[in-house]
Amino acid sequence: MKIYIDTAILKEIEWADERGLIDGVTTNPSLLTKADRKLGEVIRDILDIVRDRPVSIEAVSQNADDIIEEAKEISKLAKNVVVKIPMTDEGMMSVRDLSAKGIKTNVTLVFSTSQALLAARAGATYVSMFDGLLDDMGAEGMDVVRETAQVFKNYEFTTELIVASIREVKHIEASAAAGVDAVAVPFKVLVQMYRHALTDKGLKNFLEDWEKIPK
Ligand code: E4P
Repeated sequence: MKIYIDTAILKEIEWADERGLIDGVTTNPSLLTKADRKLGEVIRDILDIVRDRPVSIEAVSQNADDIIEEAKEISKLAKNVVVKIPMTDEGMMSVRDLSAKGIKTNVTLVFSTSQALLAARAGATYVSMFDGLLDDMGAEGMDVVRETAQVFKNYEFTTELIVASIREVKHIEASAAAGVDAVAVPFKVLVQMYRHALTDKGLKNFLEDWEKIPK
């Protein structure tokens, strides 16, 4: 399972990249806002760190023709740039066109199996399904994720299913158990993947016992 770090904050990307933890980066307008820097500068710096793995950058135009033109400009930034496009009617029309042009797309704001199915059929390279936001609305996000993962397996879609909007480690574990292709993980949750209280306790016990051995 691939892990994309879900952030535009450079030190978070560097931390994860130095440890060989990430297969790419996913951003969105909200994450770019949190970086609190000029757009062009933060994107350039992210692409300077991650040159050989996908970096998703969202188009914000609303109609298909404008999305296509914006996506063309975004894709010129680097060969590893993927254009994020919202799961809308206009978005789907642009995905078909961009797919035909060989421009990689990540269809985002996907909340149902049927949306994911339409995005895959349109030729999306990636589909980002928002697990956490589904839970926030009282739905069972992982049920939708599991159903979508099964549909993608049934039809052997080449489109990569990314579970996004992840709030805690258990969503990563459940996504892996469901056989999804990738997860988009916030820095905080990525760090939590390392951690378990019993690991710390066990190591403390080992080191204390080590000191008791006659040397
Ligand atoms: C992927 O990059 C999504 O945009 C992101 O995971 C959304 O997360 P949120 O639901 O916390 O905004």
